[in-house]
Amino acid sequence: MPKIIMGIESSCDETGVGLVRLHDDGAVELLADEVASSVDQHARFGGVVPEIASRAHMEAMVPTADRAFEKAGLKLSDVDAIAVTAGPGLSGALLVGVSAAKAYAAALGVPLYGVNHLAGHIAVDTLQHGPLPTPCLGLLVSGGHTQLLRIDDIASSITELGSTVDDAAGEAYDKVARVLGLPYPGGPPIDKAAKEGDPKAIAFPRGMTGPRDAKFDFSFSGLKTAVARWIEAAERRGDDIPVNDVAASFQEAVADVLTAKAVKAAKELGIDTMVISGGVAANSRLSGLAAERCEAAGITLRVPRPRLCTDNGAMIAALGAHVVAAGRPPSSLDLSANPALPV
Ligand code: KG4
Ligand code: ZN
Repeated sequence: MPKIIMGIESSCDETGVGLVRLHDDGAVELLADEVASSVDQHARFGGVVPEIASRAHMEAMVPTADRAFEKAGLKLSDVDAIAVTAGPGLSGALLVGVSAAKAYAAALGVPLYGVNHLAGHIAVDTLQHGPLPTPCLGLLVSGGHTQLLRIDDIASSITELGSTVDDAAGEAYDKVARVLGLPYPGGPPIDKAAKEGDPKAIAFPRGMTGPRDAKFDFSFSGLKTAVARWIEAAERRGDDIPVNDVAASFQEAVADVLTAKAVKAAKELGIDTMVISGGVAANSRLSGLAAERCEAAGITLRVPRPRLCTDNGAMIAALGAHVVAAGRPPSSLDLSANPALPV
């Protein structure tokens, strides 16, 4: 019999509740995906403030869940299992979701599954593109994470091949936007400005691409500093800042490094499917360059639509469905949040 899985996400600044139907053949169907974001409350600080995020989750959790059930035309009593992000993420923010999930699970008498946020970012792709061929390579790029993952089984076997040694890709976008005087979050305005700029105007550094650097790790803090220094020097000379050219050149450096390393990893490991997910996957140059390079290398590229790439509850419900289908034993009601949960 098909099962209804509720997914709860609260690891950062998005309160998400998703509902999916797990069919007997393993297919997972999206029924509802409601998100309440506190991003506007963080904008004036230039980044997420954990206390504000936790409070916003408290306020938004039940109304967001109610909206999801209303959209799906379901009742609470239709739920067969609950999945919740147990980590990684902000401690207080995660606790709100985990506590809510436990309360729903206990009240409804259904199993609870603590799941990994990073795996959720990859699992969400199955809602749009169907079952994931394995092994597959995951490039996860968001405000909090930059990771290269090898996925052998979305429910039980994911290996981290590399990650950023300093800033996440999205964090670099947000910081560069700030020095360019663009609003937070910085990805969308940089993406837009870059369309009018020359990506070859300034040769910004490509971090961690030297022969002695770890093959599959990333670094974006040097790039961010290089952009800030370049702007300072231009200001000292009294020059106008060519915002569009700086944005395009910075964006090119990020997309170049991410796609070069991901394609290299896929080739070395003999993997022919790649999923790019996380908020930065919405970047037009990243997806464009990835499509070009994947095609040249004979790799099938899957990028979920932007709405699914950013944090949401559907990704957790989707992963929950795969975990249920795999027969994983449920978590106990003692489940606690783990801000540093490894993938
Ligand atoms: O996945 P997400 O919504 O939240 C986190 O888990 O971090 O990702 C948010 C990040 C922000 O840093 C934002 O600047 C970036 O994704 N982002 C973009 C674009 N849209 C969002 N970065 C580059 N280009 C975009 N179009
Ligand atoms: Zn995320």
